[in-house]
Amino acid sequence: MGILLVDGGRTLQGQVEVQGAKNSVLPILAATILACGQCVIKHCPRLRDVDASIQILRHLGCSAQWESGALVVDTAQMNCCSIPDELMREMRSSVIFLGAVLARCGQAELSYPGGCELGPRPIDLHLTALRALGADIEDRGGTLRCQAEKLCGTEIVLSLPSVGATENAILAACGAEGTTVICNAAREPEIMDLQEFLVKCGARIHGAGSSTVTVEGGRPLHGCVHRCIADRIAAATLLSAVAAAGGEAVLTGVDYRQLSTVTAALSEAGCRIRSQNSTISIARRDRLHCIRPVRTAPYPGFPTDAQAVLMAALLRSAGATVFVENIFENRYRHVDELARMGADIRVEGRVAVVCGVESLHGATLRSTDLRGGAALCVAALAAQGQSEIGELHHIDRGYEDIARDLRALGASVRRVESEEPHGEENKPEAQAKRKIRLSV
Ligand code: EPU
Repeated sequence: MGILLVDGGRTLQGQVEVQGAKNSVLPILAATILACGQCVIKHCPRLRDVDASIQILRHLGCSAQWESGALVVDTAQMNCCSIPDELMREMRSSVIFLGAVLARCGQAELSYPGGCELGPRPIDLHLTALRALGADIEDRGGTLRCQAEKLCGTEIVLSLPSVGATENAILAACGAEGTTVICNAAREPEIMDLQEFLVKCGARIHGAGSSTVTVEGGRPLHGCVHRCIADRIAAATLLSAVAAAGGEAVLTGVDYRQLSTVTAALSEAGCRIRSQNSTISIARRDRLHCIRPVRTAPYPGFPTDAQAVLMAALLRSAGATVFVENIFENRYRHVDELARMGADIRVEGRVAVVCGVESLHGATLRSTDLRGGAALCVAALAAQGQSEIGELHHIDRGYEDIARDLRALGASVRRVESEEPHGEENKPEAQAKRKIRLSV
């Protein structure tokens, strides 16, 4: 594993095409199982979580390989309906395979998923939805054994609009006889992308993007060619980087409507934002100022995934901004790391208050989770001096190459690979070895 070396304090300028959306492609890769044929996924980001999905697909007997920048998946030869614990633990999205495998095979066996530690992340809503469709699910010491001779369409009312539970319900409903109506569904753009993929495969689904999704199940599905939407959180990260460091940039290939709460917050803080067709441009000249409370909420509210990067952008703003994290219980783990750079943030439960400081300084930092790690990159760009960011495996889960994208904006960011295992990249001995290597 490596570290990122960030030389902060320089303004940014440049243009970047935004990578494909992690949270779109992961359910789509699970959905390829329903297609029983070849699917070509374009604009698929090359990430650790995508690698984990590829491993799961191969374990199930499917083929998956990169061809000319696209991921080509063929699920025709699928011959297994269980996923081992070590693959399930790689990421949270492994649970989305449950609905797809069940719909295709009538049975599935897997354990609880892993993923970023953001507080408790139960899957009760996923299981309730699948049971409503007729699945018999037994939990034997952490292994879920699921059987469904026949899945039947029904009404599923989610008690909260869970993204993953909505996706699992849609996938299982594709394999159910009759019509399923999912009420209080999550409305995230990534669910619309999943619907678009499945419709191209021959499914009859409508309503994604609204709170009611209707699936007419039982239709045989086939392969298709699909281009994933752009990653709105990767875009939010790059916008926050420019807001933090100053300068101007253009992001291309992104739907600005999906980022309206993020761009509204950045505008309120003093950035100039222009959106047109599929580009967003941002300019930040003067010191940012504090903004009204930022409360995370399901889409179309302010995304929890953009909370950490916006917080990083506001560390040097004038005044105090309140953040209220309403989705996950433990999503301020980056705060202690930001404090090492001189940030003034006070956390009490779900509330964090960022009191802007005049300046930040470079520091030795550890990524705590995916978006928290991205926030450290954003803050490091606004700090004087060099920062070293370790534990990059978190960032690699969701960013194709954050150093490449930041360099395209003129930042001085480089990745130095090291032989040290996870968690030891920042130890003094490792730092000393690196200094010798970098100086020769
Ligand atoms: N929840 C339950 N029971 C369930 C499912 C969810 O109580 O069965 C709760 C969760 O504990 C959480 C809330 O509902 O408090 C929302 O969870 P949701 O199911 O919507 O999230 P998810 O599907 O696990 C996806 C994204 C996350 C993103 C959230 C919220 C993917 C692969 N992951 O997770 O992305 O934060 O929706 O928007 O789509 C990230 O990309 O960094 C990331 C964490």
